[in-house]
Amino acid sequence: FTALAAGLAATLLTGCQSEQLLSIGDMSSGYNKEIFWMSLWAIALSIIVFVGVSWALFYSVQKFREDRHDAPPAQFHGNNRLEVILVAVPVVIVILLSVLTVRSMARLNPVPVNAPKIDILSKQFWWNFAYPTVTSDAGGTVANGNEMVMPTGQPVVLNLTSGDVIHGFWAPNIGGQRHALPSVIRTWKVDTERPGVYQGNCSQLCGASHANMRYKVIALEPERYQAFLAAAKAYRAPTPAEGSAEARGYTLFMQGKASTGALACSACHRVQGTPAAAGAGPDLSFFGTRRTLGAGMWEGEEAEKNLVPWIANSPGMKPGALMPTYDGSEYMVNGKMQKGGVLTRAEIEDIAAYLRSLKLPEEADYWRGTP
Ligand code: CUA
Repeated sequence: FTALAAGLAATLLTGCQSEQLLSIGDMSSGYNKEIFWMSLWAIALSIIVFVGVSWALFYSVQKFREDRHDAPPAQFHGNNRLEVILVAVPVVIVILLSVLTVRSMARLNPVPVNAPKIDILSKQFWWNFAYPTVTSDAGGTVANGNEMVMPTGQPVVLNLTSGDVIHGFWAPNIGGQRHALPSVIRTWKVDTERPGVYQGNCSQLCGASHANMRYKVIALEPERYQAFLAAAKAYRAPTPAEGSAEARGYTLFMQGKASTGALACSACHRVQGTPAAAGAGPDLSFFGTRRTLGAGMWEGEEAEKNLVPWIANSPGMKPGALMPTYDGSEYMVNGKMQKGGVLTRAEIEDIAAYLRSLKLPEEADYWRGTP
């Protein structure tokens, strides 16, 4: 029975498996397994209650039908034995459910001291994933925007907070949805046995681009995860060769263009190993390694194709985005329309070229080997 029920429930919960998984029935995660079995117990008890109540109802309706009796049935008041049973059965069920719940909480809650940790910052409408135990050789914590890298086969401790309103961290395949609250840090552990790319979403309605607040979880075998961390720690953004598009992009990125009102990217973003160290926008240190753009709005070729238009006018492509425009269009900040600075198409392409050059070495490319 349990095998059948597990199979059925797994099928129902998983639905169809795509390459970018999104499933609360993913049994590769110990977290999900725990919740799954607990739910199964609760469902089994509910079925027993449902069958019992239904039986009593239909039995009474049939047995005491008016047309089956000449005289009214016996009238009496009070039945101590029945009343004790009616109280005792629900109490036993509630105790059973409490024991199961406390047992699951005890298994899920202790956060291992030596586990890998990831600090998650959520803001309208993007994510930053920092590795607090890893200080980069260039100074500062290693971090990456909108793509979270974790090892398989062990619990990973997540510390979640929000920089503005309430968001929700929800990557169902690795287990455990949590609200992200400003000035509160939520800590819990997630895990998966299977390497792969998993979809994550913001699960709390948080503004105009709530639906555009997505991220990827990339689970790597422990050796590859270590390779990623080591390379990320040692990473210093390359200094572009003089006269190249990247070098022109670098200058615009760091200084903007005062004559046309174009703000410097470095006023809001960080790139490890450069003077850009701001945290108002997602960390761009490994931008060239990333495959998604706009907090998961586009992937792969779509992301590549949209990079220049994105820099030119992100609020136009993503409602509520706080990044300024660079094509002179108006955008809204704190309810006020504001006119963005102006860069030429060629200048924006230079910035895009610089961003693409921010790449981790081949052995640390966490996307390697994924479709
Ligand atoms: Cu953030 Cu919804």
